[in-house]
Amino acid sequence: MREIKRVGVCGCGLMGSGIAQVAAMSGHDVVILEAVQAALDKGIASIGSSLAKFAEKSKTPDGQPFDANLRDATLARIKTTTNIADLAPCDLVIEAIVENMAVKRELFAKLDSLLAPHAIICSNTSSLCVIEMAAATKRPEQIAGLHFFNPVPIMKLVEVVKTIVTSQETIDTLYAFAKKLGKAPVLAQDTPGFIVNRLLVPYLLYAIRMYEAGLASREDIDESMKLGCGYPMGPLTLLDFVGLDTTYFIAEIMFDEFKDPLMAPPPLLKRMVLAGHHGRKSGRGFYDYSAAAKK
Ligand code: CAA
Ligand code: NAD
Repeated sequence: MREIKRVGVCGCGLMGSGIAQVAAMSGHDVVILEAVQAALDKGIASIGSSLAKFAEKSKTPDGQPFDANLRDATLARIKTTTNIADLAPCDLVIEAIVENMAVKRELFAKLDSLLAPHAIICSNTSSLCVIEMAAATKRPEQIAGLHFFNPVPIMKLVEVVKTIVTSQETIDTLYAFAKKLGKAPVLAQDTPGFIVNRLLVPYLLYAIRMYEAGLASREDIDESMKLGCGYPMGPLTLLDFVGLDTTYFIAEIMFDEFKDPLMAPPPLLKRMVLAGHHGRKSGRGFYDYSAAAKK
C-alpha cells in the first residue's frame, strides 16, 4: 500500500470541486487542473461556500469539529491551474472531467507521461469502461475508478472500481485513501454503472418517460417518491442536481453496452440537453433555477 500525500484533481465542476474539497479537508495538498479558468473560479467559490456551511455548524457531516481556522487551512492546501505540468508531483490524480471517453483517454495518456512511476490515476466516471482509459497508459495496474457521489462533501459512498488488471496494492491504497477522507468505500467491478448507477439511472430515466407520457406533473412525481419512499429528492429534482448532460452521456454509454430499453435515453432528455437545459448548473432543467423563478 502506498501513502498518498499530494492529490491532483482534473475538472473543477460539480464533482471535481467536491473531491478537491474533501481531499484538502483531510490534510492532503491538492492541485486542481481545469480547462476553463471560469470553471476554476466557480468551483473554488462552491468549495468556499461549502466549507462556510461546515464552519457555521462548527462540525463536518461526520461530526468532526470544524471552524474558520480549519476552513482557511483547507483552502490554503488547494492550488489551481490550467497547466497540466503542475500535476507532476502528485501521488494520485482523480479526473472528474466531462463524461466522454475520447477526452478522458487523451487526459490519461498525458498524465501517464507526466506523473512519477508510482503515481495512481483514477477516474470519477459514472459509467465509462475504466480499463479503456487504462489502455491509454503504460501503468494499467495503477488505474482504477474512484466514483464519488453528489454532493461529495455530504455523501459517504465511494465506489472503488477494480478493472481486470488493477493491482491489489492499488485497491488497498485507494481504500485507505477513501477512509482518510471519511468516506465508506465499496468494491465494484468495471461494468457500466458499477453498482449505484446500474440501479439508479434506469429509475431516473423511467421518471422522465413518465413525465414525457404525461402520467403526472413533475412536482407530483417528485413528491410521490419523497413522501412515498422517503427519498431526500424526487427523481426529476435529482436529475437537475446531477446534470441532464451528464445523465444523457451515462444513459447512452449504458444503453450502448447492454442494449436494455430501460437504459435508453428518452427523446425528451436528448432535446433538453440540446436546448442547453442541463439542470441546476445551467439554471434550467425540469425546473427553473433562475433568479426570476426564485422570486
Ligand atoms: N456542502 C456543505 N453542506 C451541504 C452541501 C454541500 N455541498 N449540500 C448540502 N449541504 C447541507 C446543507 O447545508 C444542509 O445542512 P443543514 O441540514 O445543517 O441545514 C444539509 O446538507 C441538507 O441540505 P439541504 O437543506 O440543501 O437539502 P437536503 O436536506 O435535501 O439535503 C442533499 C441536500 C444532501 C443533496 C439531499 O437532498 C440528498 O441527499 N439528495 C440526494 C442526493 C443523491 O441522490 N446523490 C447521488 C446522485 S447519483 C451520483 O452522484 C452518481 C453519478 O454518477 C451521477
Ligand atoms: P461538470 O460538467 O460539472 O464538470 C466537468 C468539468 O470538467 C468542467 O468544468 C470542464 O471545464 C472540465 N473539463 C472538461 N475537459 C477537461 C480537460 N480536458 N481538462 C480539465 N478539465 C476539463 O461535470 P460533473 O458533473 O462534475 O461530472 C464530472 C465527471 O464525474 C463525469 O465523468 C461524471 O460522469 C462523473 N460523476 C458525476 C456525478 C454528478 O452527479 N454530476 C456524480 C458522480 C460522478
